[in-house]
Amino acid sequence: MPDFVHKPVMVAEVLAALKPKPGGRYADGTVGGAGHAAAILAASSPTGWLSGCDRDGAAVEAASRRLAEFAGRFEIRRGNFAELAGWVPAESCDGVLLDLGVSSPQLDVAERGFSFQQAGPLDMRMDTRQPVTAAELVNTAAEQELARIFWEWGGERDSRRFAKAIVRDRAEKRFETTRQLAGLIERISPRHGKKTHPATKVFQALRIAVNDEIGSLERGLAGAMKILKSGGRLAVITFHSLEDRVVKEFGRARARDYTFTGRVDVPELREPRMPEARLVTRRAVSPGEAELAENPRSRSAQLRVIEKI
Ligand SMILES: C[S@@+](CC[C@H](N)C(=O)[O-])C[C@H]1O[C@@H](n2cnc3c(N)ncnc32)[C@H](O)[C@@H]1O
Repeated sequence: MPDFVHKPVMVAEVLAALKPKPGGRYADGTVGGAGHAAAILAASSPTGWLSGCDRDGAAVEAASRRLAEFAGRFEIRRGNFAELAGWVPAESCDGVLLDLGVSSPQLDVAERGFSFQQAGPLDMRMDTRQPVTAAELVNTAAEQELARIFWEWGGERDSRRFAKAIVRDRAEKRFETTRQLAGLIERISPRHGKKTHPATKVFQALRIAVNDEIGSLERGLAGAMKILKSGGRLAVITFHSLEDRVVKEFGRARARDYTFTGRVDVPELREPRMPEARLVTRRAVSPGEAELAENPRSRSAQLRVIEKI
């Protein structure tokens, strides 16, 4: 089995936020290569407990191996963090971590199909037990639906043009590989010395759609609040602005001393209530210079922390 190596980001910041202590109970919804999980278990030695999960079977195996030295102090399950509250007891945790996105091994293993820089099948499933792959979506979704995905989850300005070209090309030949899709986009939108590859946003959008990443995040945040004790903290690391906006809005909504019905906050329609959370970080925290220099993949990471009241 190839080594599963993922460099965890902002470990010091996560530990400063969660303050792991002996006897404390923690949940890591994105255990990945277990870098953060190992740091939390080490900092909460000798009696801290960690419940962890990941959608990716390879990550779960790697994490269990990596955490062997903490045997008897953790349980790792394969699954979506949106379901954490289904197996971690309510109000039991002192800290919960969600470190979103994909791991380095997911990006680097060509067969997973996450990267347009690697020749592989158009897959992108974090959980390979799921039925719908990126190829399935690209070959069967209606043109309008593809355009919506590229626009909504990728912010791709050429969403309609790309969707139209995909529907035209797939009538001749199914899309099966990352290179096929990246090639089509390069032909329509040549790179012309631009820093980012023209397929970047389309690949991000497909990944978010295939894995229902935003829906999982919304359910995961709500679940995390259920399993936290009063005074427990939720730390979330995001890697793009869509995710960060969901986390920011969630924190703000839980920290308000009122609720409102409808989509717009009109003062006359507010219902007073006790806030459920306190914002520990008012602004998102970014990695420091040293980490940025050492780990280029950390450059888009943003950490937000809230505390349950
Ligand atoms: C950035 S990596 C986490 C790395 C980890 N913190 C470490 O120290 O190695 C993100 C991980 O989250 C997993 N993941 C993403 N969304 C998930 C979800 N909704 N439920 C469970 N795992 C998820 C991915 O499979 C991936 O392994």
